Amino acid sequence: MNIVILAAGQGKRMHSNLPKVLHPLAGKALVSHVIDTARSLSPRSLCIVYGHGGDAVRSALAAPDLSWALQEPQLGTGHAVRQALPCLDGQGTTLVLYGDVPLIRAETLHRLVHAAADGLAVLTVELADPQGYGRIVRNAAGQVVRIVEQKDASADEKKIREINTGIMAMPTARLGEWLGRLSSDNAQNEYYLTDVVGMAVEAGLPVRTASPEHEWEVLGVNSKVQLAELERIAQRTGAERLMEQGVRLADPARIDVRGELRCGRDVFIDVNCVFEGEVVLDEAVEVGPNCVLKNARIGAGTRLAAFTHIEDAVVGADGMIGPFARLRPGTELAEDVHVGNFVEIKKSTIAAHSKANHLAYIGDATIGSRVNVGAGTITCNYDGANKHRTIIEDDAFIGSDTQLVAPVTVGRGATLGAGTTLTKDAPPDSLTISRARQTSITGWKRPVKAGR
Ligand code: UD1
Ligand code: CA
Repeated sequence: MNIVILAAGQGKRMHSNLPKVLHPLAGKALVSHVIDTARSLSPRSLCIVYGHGGDAVRSALAAPDLSWALQEPQLGTGHAVRQALPCLDGQGTTLVLYGDVPLIRAETLHRLVHAAADGLAVLTVELADPQGYGRIVRNAAGQVVRIVEQKDASADEKKIREINTGIMAMPTARLGEWLGRLSSDNAQNEYYLTDVVGMAVEAGLPVRTASPEHEWEVLGVNSKVQLAELERIAQRTGAERLMEQGVRLADPARIDVRGELRCGRDVFIDVNCVFEGEVVLDEAVEVGPNCVLKNARIGAGTRLAAFTHIEDAVVGADGMIGPFARLRPGTELAEDVHVGNFVEIKKSTIAAHSKANHLAYIGDATIGSRVNVGAGTITCNYDGANKHRTIIEDDAFIGSDTQLVAPVTVGRGATLGAGTTLTKDAPPDSLTISRARQTSITGWKRPVKAGR
């Protein structure tokens, strides 16, 4: 089988510099949804017809299994498929998809291709309001005769409610001849792909129709309003899939997955969470409201409290993170690590049972097990030119409001007194403190305002 994806249209109504088919839906370009679905059918050739925003489209999608056909200028859907002919394997079926119809399901396409086994098949739906679409014209026996475009249709034909979704499967061997015979003698002066339907009928080939299970599979994106509508549909179906796998969602209407979210058993996700890239939540993870997770793995039993932000990080099992915690790229937490409010961690590893519960910046650090990082602790990792590492060994206790001026090491079991500015290594099992001695001046009087 060959698959041709039409993606040359301009998308004027998007009012955007980004080519229409590159607009993201559920975190992935519109046309990438179509490409991924197409790939799942294992076609022999997969060809994208592109035009508007050409180079941007090609470089954004570049992959070894894609071939490219430039359509310039754009003279209609039939003209578009003709540009793809050199990419096609001469045998079997050619399936035509639209790059701006992203939610079509593989199962539907399987049925369409099956219906085209000995002829041509068109994916159609009946719409309450068929305005604007090509109509499926049938004879008295109910057989498809041809497709007529809205602008060419007679008053009677305009009453037909069965429409052409644009998705079609046809015998590749006939395609070259049919497309060569197309004429642009119609209301739009375009070469209509839909005219091949009449040609197939003329040739005595069976022309069948198939329909998608869900109407949303064939919705196209022409505007930002439609893009938002499809985003909601994609999110809703994604949320349903998660719930079917056993995930408990506080509200399936208030989760956004812009990438891939994989969950173990008994995961709970509260409202307004956003998942981007690849996120894995192991068994019994609980995600509080308003969390954002991007490319992250969260270990079993860990609880993320509200407003936690995690990117390119790994959190071990049985942890407690947040509320208002920020784990930046390169953070790796082992099991039973507690990270509290207003704690930022970057490019650091923290071993098991350690805690940083309040107000801290931990950057470029290696922290051992059972370490307690006090409130207000800062690793001064940056000297204005270079980044340096801080090492805190097992069982250390870092007093509140401490600055660790890297590179510096806190030895195993060491204690740093509150307010310490650590500029040299702290030896193990000792108290290190850098603080002016406290004195009190008795009988000292506060100054008073002059002239009174
Ligand atoms: C087309 C169908 C119509 C169907 C409708 C469904 C034809 C003649 N008409 O109409 O029967 O009901 O889709 O939405 O096929 N494209 C190109 N190059 C072109 C023209 C279009 O790549 O020269 C691409 C567009 O980017 C788009 C798709 O083909 O992805 C359909 O184009 P569009 O202009 O939306 O087709 P319609 O006129 O709406
Ligand atoms: Ca259209």
